[in-house]
Amino acid sequence: MTNVDSTYEPYSQDPNYIAANSALLEDVPLDDVTRVADLACGTGLLSGVLIGRKPTLAISGIDLDPVQIEIANRTFPGPVAKDLDAVREAAAAGTGAGCFMTGSAMELPFDTDEIDLVVMGNAIHLMPDRDRFLSEVSRVLRPGGMFTFNSVFYVGTFVPGTEAVFGEWMKEAVGVLAEENEARAARGEAPVPRVRGKGSKAFRKDWLSGDGWSEALDAAGFDTVHCADRPVPISEEGLGMVGAYGGLAEVLMSGYPVDIASHCLQEAAPRAFRKLGIDEVPRNWLEVRATRRDPAN
Ligand SMILES: C[S@@+](CC[C@H](N)C(=O)[O-])C[C@H]1O[C@@H](n2cnc3c(N)ncnc32)[C@H](O)[C@@H]1O
Repeated sequence: MTNVDSTYEPYSQDPNYIAANSALLEDVPLDDVTRVADLACGTGLLSGVLIGRKPTLAISGIDLDPVQIEIANRTFPGPVAKDLDAVREAAAAGTGAGCFMTGSAMELPFDTDEIDLVVMGNAIHLMPDRDRFLSEVSRVLRPGGMFTFNSVFYVGTFVPGTEAVFGEWMKEAVGVLAEENEARAARGEAPVPRVRGKGSKAFRKDWLSGDGWSEALDAAGFDTVHCADRPVPISEEGLGMVGAYGGLAEVLMSGYPVDIASHCLQEAAPRAFRKLGIDEVPRNWLEVRATRRDPAN
């Protein structure tokens, strides 16, 4: 079995992925923005794009996973602040900074109305309680501040006619696992163990549509100003890299050891593409921008 990098770093460098995230942020006005929160920031891709557009932004990134946070602090293309107080100082001085911290997007370390812009790349579908999450975003965002996010787990994500490609990918991944088990049997070893009963949030049945998200945002005190699908091509390499990401692999091949699931999904991508005679597959990304209403009005 080959060693697989199961962090988010490889996929976060995929050109199609960077282009889609840059496009999300392109139309976000930054004139009145200093303080930014990048929630579930992963390796800090969105923060990097933003500081590239406006070097005086003071950005705080939060993610549950310390491995992604270490990468974010190491690769941020701007000055790195040591903690939240240092970000506040950079904001006051207008010098710009980024600081990436381990924590939950469900309980934010910011004061009420402290943040001008909240961004969340491809993670809103992972929040365990949507309404509580949106009300927490609403709490920390100043009135008139913007919340923008994208997601590939929503009603409308599959471009008609392409679902079979993802099915084929999974079939091939199961085939790679079978080969691994055969190799183990030939060596007199036990098959890959599976722990059953590990649920997966990304595949719960209550994905929302764009309209559903607008309604949830409205209930939390936001006005949706943009809500659209963006078709994003996934290349063979891109599919392999996203499958290798441990956070997705443990969802798609739930219960198997993550390194083995990552390996199977990465190996399966070129096999599926070759079998179907394709070199890319589109998938829709939901893009949303919403502004926080002023409760005084
Ligand atoms: C698909 S990655 C997206 C990373 C990054 N936002 C990007 O667009 O490149 C999802 C991230 O959500 C993080 N995550 C999941 N649940 C979270 C939570 N409750 N609070 C903070 N981060 C969370 C994971 O650790 C992972 O880094």
